[in-house]
Amino acid sequence: MDFEIKYKDAMARIGTFETPHGKVTTPNLMPVVHPGKQTLDVKKFGAEIVITNSYIIYKNEKLKEKALKDGVHELINFPGTIETDSGSFQLSVYGDIDINNEEVIKFQEAIGTDIGTSLDIPTAPYVKREEAEDDLKITIERAEEASKVRKDLLLNSVVQGSTFPDLREYCAKEISKFDADIYPIGAVVPLMEMYRYADLVDAVMYSMRGLPEDKPRHLMGAGHPMVFALAVAMGCDLFDSAAYILYANKDRFMMPDGTLKLENLIEMPCSCRVCTEYTVDELRQMSQEKRAKLIAEHNLHISFAEIRRIRQAIVDGELMKLVELRCRSHPFLLDGLRRLEEYQEDMEKLNPSSKKSAFFYTGYESLSRSEIPRHLRKLENVKPTSKNLIILPHTRKPYSKYVNREYIKKYTPKIATYYSNTDITDYSDSDIVVADVPFGIIPLALDEFYPLAQNESPAIHDENSKKFIREIIGEYSRKYENILIHNKVVEKFDLENLCLVEDELILPEAKVTDFDRLKTIADYQFGTGSGESLFGNDPDKVKIEKSRKTGKIRHVYEGDDIIVNMRASDGFLILSDLGAIRLHKHLEKPNMRVVVAEDSEPFAKKGKSVFNKFVLDCDEKIRRNDEVLIVNKDDELLACGKSLLSSYEIKDFNTGQAIKTRKIKKFQE
Ligand code: GUN
Ligand code: ZN
Repeated sequence: MDFEIKYKDAMARIGTFETPHGKVTTPNLMPVVHPGKQTLDVKKFGAEIVITNSYIIYKNEKLKEKALKDGVHELINFPGTIETDSGSFQLSVYGDIDINNEEVIKFQEAIGTDIGTSLDIPTAPYVKREEAEDDLKITIERAEEASKVRKDLLLNSVVQGSTFPDLREYCAKEISKFDADIYPIGAVVPLMEMYRYADLVDAVMYSMRGLPEDKPRHLMGAGHPMVFALAVAMGCDLFDSAAYILYANKDRFMMPDGTLKLENLIEMPCSCRVCTEYTVDELRQMSQEKRAKLIAEHNLHISFAEIRRIRQAIVDGELMKLVELRCRSHPFLLDGLRRLEEYQEDMEKLNPSSKKSAFFYTGYESLSRSEIPRHLRKLENVKPTSKNLIILPHTRKPYSKYVNREYIKKYTPKIATYYSNTDITDYSDSDIVVADVPFGIIPLALDEFYPLAQNESPAIHDENSKKFIREIIGEYSRKYENILIHNKVVEKFDLENLCLVEDELILPEAKVTDFDRLKTIADYQFGTGSGESLFGNDPDKVKIEKSRKTGKIRHVYEGDDIIVNMRASDGFLILSDLGAIRLHKHLEKPNMRVVVAEDSEPFAKKGKSVFNKFVLDCDEKIRRNDEVLIVNKDDELLACGKSLLSSYEIKDFNTGQAIKTRKIKKFQE
């Protein structure tokens, strides 16, 4: 089964896959449909895929007979994709069931399920390691057996491992060898019931380390909308919910930020059909059965609405903002979010390099988003051009436009606090940066680059971000001999201890030339020395064309040839023929390279998209929306382009597009 990624944010994917009963878009919710007693028609809520239980069907003679005769789609009256569970959950509750793995796979195949599940063993959390290991061995054996027994059935292969993160990763790696179609993460219901969200994050993130990127993942038994955003950000694509019924049976309304009890309500909580057509009193007075059906309808409505909101957030590139918002609705969810900080590097590997939306700081947890370590790493590409550093306070953006107006001209000359081991007083030759939350240090030349230009944080800083920025300033300052810190920065971030001397110094005007800006961006975006290789050292040799409307750089020429264009939305440099040729010469293998197979060479040269299956290798550092160089195995440059995926996805996927290619006209250099 082919899974195709359309949009990405954090580790989340909007993707599609197709089964014999239709197309499914992820992230998505699979309502649980009871094969015997379902009363709500989930089709009306837009369900594309549902889950039902093959073991319940198997155990009931009447259901079994009908399912075998007419098929499971007819049995539960759902024409779309049906996933069935295997009875593992019953196994975990009752300790024993009377069907074996091979039988349950064959049965699922016989009733025409689209996606079947092997008889994994859901090991409870916090058991002894030995028990988890013993169970896991069986789960893995059964996953292998299922892959051999099934014919056309699409297959779920469940990750187990209890609360041992390394067992989760091991299991994920092992079962990935058997070529299943969807990878559920199992036995997490007890964690969610206990509100152990930090442990849930561990279980999911370690599972992700072992799972391939090119298959959907299903967080089994996750049915409360308040966890969807967090789970999607970790790479979960599917949820299943019996919760909408179970909660309704107890007069509970699910909301994206928690649960409401009917007994406490004075107003109906949302604007769905049920909440607008009925009053609280009317609901209380009706029969329990009728009421439960209506609340279930509300619950399903709210759950699908949250899925839609998450998809929009992915397209807009603001999923983490939504995750942070949702996780603030319960202290234990906040634990989950805080635990996610430990997986910053995992997130970074899959997080796109540029997004539609600005980075909005919503609290100190935002400091854990992977954009920040990525920035600090790229900042290493930009080498000092002076022994002197001036650190200025933030202003409106772009800084280079406002910093003189707000802090230099306005306050000069009595403004500077200074720490240094020499007593120089002339700072006219200095590198100039701005200190700001959340990115710490922003060279003036990078003030239009995503996300350094596209972020907002409150003017009143919390202690965590002050400490964070202090550390970054301390670290960055080591590259310089003399550092001048504007006293506004000292005040904002409590840097008094770092400062050795206070003095009154005249600051030079904070200016950045277009030529320096281009070179700094090139180094930051592509690697050290890229600026020089693209633009040389003589500003008079390049011609810079700017937008008349915005004043921003648009095209950079040498003679009549474009070297690079600057993308207006994010300030990224987009290589033209000359730029690609020069960078290819400058950057060593495997930097920026996507190596394609021989069959694909003529297509790449013509500017046709590169497909994942033709990629032999690629630079690990490539992320969605990055510029790349397309080469053959002898490292001959064929074309350039924009990556649609992260290197980790390109390596796992065998279908779909990897690179949106731009052809290179044959150039003589
Ligand atoms: N439903 C909820 N948790 C699980 C699980 O771990 N395995 C299976 N097969 N179904 C589940
Ligand atoms: Zn409602």
